[in-house]
Amino acid sequence: MSNSHLKKININKLAVGMYVQAITDKKGKLSVKSQGHIKQACMIDILKKKGVVTLVIDTSKQLCELQNLKDVPDNEGDLENCKKETLPEISFSSEIDKASKLYKQGKVIQKSLMRSVKNGLPYDEQISKEFATEMVNSIDRNSNALLCLTKIRDKDDYLLEHSLNVAILLANFGKSIGMSSAEVEELAHAGFLHDIGKIKIPDDILNKPGRLTDSEMDVMRKHVVYGVETLKESSLNSSLIRVVSEHHERLDGLGYPYGKKGDEISQAGRMIAIADVYDALTADRVYKSGMSGQKALQILLKDCPEKYDHILLQHFIKCMGIYPVGTLVKLSNERIAMVIEQNKEKPLKPKVNVFYSTRGNHYLEGKDLNLVESTVSIEKPVLANDYKIDVKTIFERNVLASISD
Ligand SMILES: [Fe+2]
Repeated sequence: MSNSHLKKININKLAVGMYVQAITDKKGKLSVKSQGHIKQACMIDILKKKGVVTLVIDTSKQLCELQNLKDVPDNEGDLENCKKETLPEISFSSEIDKASKLYKQGKVIQKSLMRSVKNGLPYDEQISKEFATEMVNSIDRNSNALLCLTKIRDKDDYLLEHSLNVAILLANFGKSIGMSSAEVEELAHAGFLHDIGKIKIPDDILNKPGRLTDSEMDVMRKHVVYGVETLKESSLNSSLIRVVSEHHERLDGLGYPYGKKGDEISQAGRMIAIADVYDALTADRVYKSGMSGQKALQILLKDCPEKYDHILLQHFIKCMGIYPVGTLVKLSNERIAMVIEQNKEKPLKPKVNVFYSTRGNHYLEGKDLNLVESTVSIEKPVLANDYKIDVKTIFERNVLASISD
């Protein structure tokens, strides 16, 4: 390996995604494992606490230079283990029923909050705060359950589901980069509220199928400021309101409403931008089908590093997996299946529920299959529309029903 990849830096320049080759200057006597990727922000704090002053990084191993999804490395060679105090995970089948009820409850809460805002009633942050806590608890117990539900969409409920989904994606994202429980809850809460200002946008613009004209877009963009104004009347933390205010800002300064650039946008603001676009691209709308998670991630990658934070996006990709839970995939044995559980060690071999035959184009009785124990493999992700599959019915019939049996 050429030495040109090695660079000496001060600890203050160390960032998530970098690969530490060696520690060159350290105060104090505490031992530090000296090689590996910085996968979480808390690792940097640990190194600082242990007195590390300068270190050598290997830029050729930096996560931000990964070019495509399959290059995202597995969990190995971490510099330090930042164990978070979380409840032990329970199985998908034990959590999905609770998660499903929580998801429905989230839509009801979102609807009533929006109605209150529309009617000019004071905003009660307690209800959404408690809901955000419940949501994070479910993610802690088994993240696959709520994540799977983000894929079971009702195209008539876009606004309600989008806010809920962004909150779920952010809870999972925040947890995966080592944020504290309080930070994860605030981030998820911000996700849940980020589009609340849309309720003040006229319906004909809000629900217009297809592209908005420039003047309609100007009206639509006001939803951010409307939302911020509403939330400022509550006693919500200013850090949460800041995240809401930044969800359409972009690193190149071409976002809105303030045109903030680079470091002017908070880390949480950069995270919500990624989750917001990912969910919008994958959503089924009345006038169009959503794209696959893989395609959406590729689109986000294409706009890196101009619009989105490349290192954070790599983390997002990693925590979603190559085939996010809920993705429909075509298998090598001419079957269609839904991904129901990630395999963190072998991301190409998740657990799936097989429910459709492409040979005769007919449904099958749903059956779980762990690809890591099978010779069958994933050929490609597919869209429900390609096979006229009603995902919601399939999910209720095969996944939920098999659990309550
Ligand atoms: Fe928005």
